[in-house]
Amino acid sequence: MVDQFGPQFLHFFTEQTAVEAEDYLNTIMKSDDIVSALLRDKLSDQDLGILYNGFSRDGKIILVGYRTQMMSRLVGEFAHELRNPLTIIKGFIQLCGHTKEYDKFQPIILSEVERMYTILENFLTLSLRKSTFVRMNPDELCKKLIAFLSSECAVHKVTFDYDISYSENVCKVDLDKIKQVMINLLRNALEAFDGHTHEKKIMFRGSVEDKGYRFALIDNGPGVETDVLKQMGKPLYTTKSRGTGIGLSLCKKIIADHRGTFCVSSVVGKGTTVSFFLPFVSP
Ligand SMILES: Nc1ncnc2c1ncn2[C@@H]1O[C@H](COP(=O)(O)OP(=O)(O)OP(=O)(O)O)[C@@H](O)[C@H]1O
Ligand SMILES: [Mg+2]
Repeated sequence: MVDQFGPQFLHFFTEQTAVEAEDYLNTIMKSDDIVSALLRDKLSDQDLGILYNGFSRDGKIILVGYRTQMMSRLVGEFAHELRNPLTIIKGFIQLCGHTKEYDKFQPIILSEVERMYTILENFLTLSLRKSTFVRMNPDELCKKLIAFLSSECAVHKVTFDYDISYSENVCKVDLDKIKQVMINLLRNALEAFDGHTHEKKIMFRGSVEDKGYRFALIDNGPGVETDVLKQMGKPLYTTKSRGTGIGLSLCKKIIADHRGTFCVSSVVGKGTTVSFFLPFVSP
């Protein structure tokens, strides 16, 4: 990039952004997959600027630009996203006041609050959070994820099962961010169950692979067609009327920051498996 645009190109970036961009681009360079970073397509259509972004094929990167006005527009979008659940919560609380049927509306109110929470968490990760990596045994990490998954599944009346294999190796993880990945994957699975009539099942699987560990969340939801599968994880791609399309692209970014890889497979009528691989590091 510097070759092409000259050193003045670097002045587009604040120091912090330049460090992050360089890190991220290194990850892209090393990845076998085509990795797309956050927020390119739609935002550039609207002339909002492009966050550091790249596609790597044969190690080539196509890019680039960064304009700060994007962040303020993004704040606007998120405020807008938060207004929807807030409006619903307000409406139901008013209804509770009239009907005194709090028990009936409590699950809807709670799910809207959860939705706001996820949107906020995603937004914070996009904009503010720094990473804190610790070395952790994958079993230990699995146990933490399972504790949270099993209680969430119980609340949503979903049958939960898990299967984890033991490893003495360690991975370098930012626990909060990996939890956030799981929260997004779980939310997607639960949302995919909407209107589902047979038993809803979610399974967590942890398996040792060559040079790393794979964490997978498997649902028996409706699955997706190939054209949706190809788009999944692209920034702002959503099939939901109330989706932001940020969940999976954020997961991909978090996993790329961990030097890991991300994978989705799905069979229509059978379900979807989303997994990520984290490399082992020296203890
Ligand atoms: N487990 C799943 N089963 C079926 N479809 C899924 C599953 N996970 C993701 N998808 C599809 O991938 C799309 C993108 O998911 P993503 O999490 O990125 O965005 P979203 O869920 O639509 O919005 P949000 O930003 O609120 O997460 C979804 O709209 C949905 O069509
Ligand atoms: Mg989602």
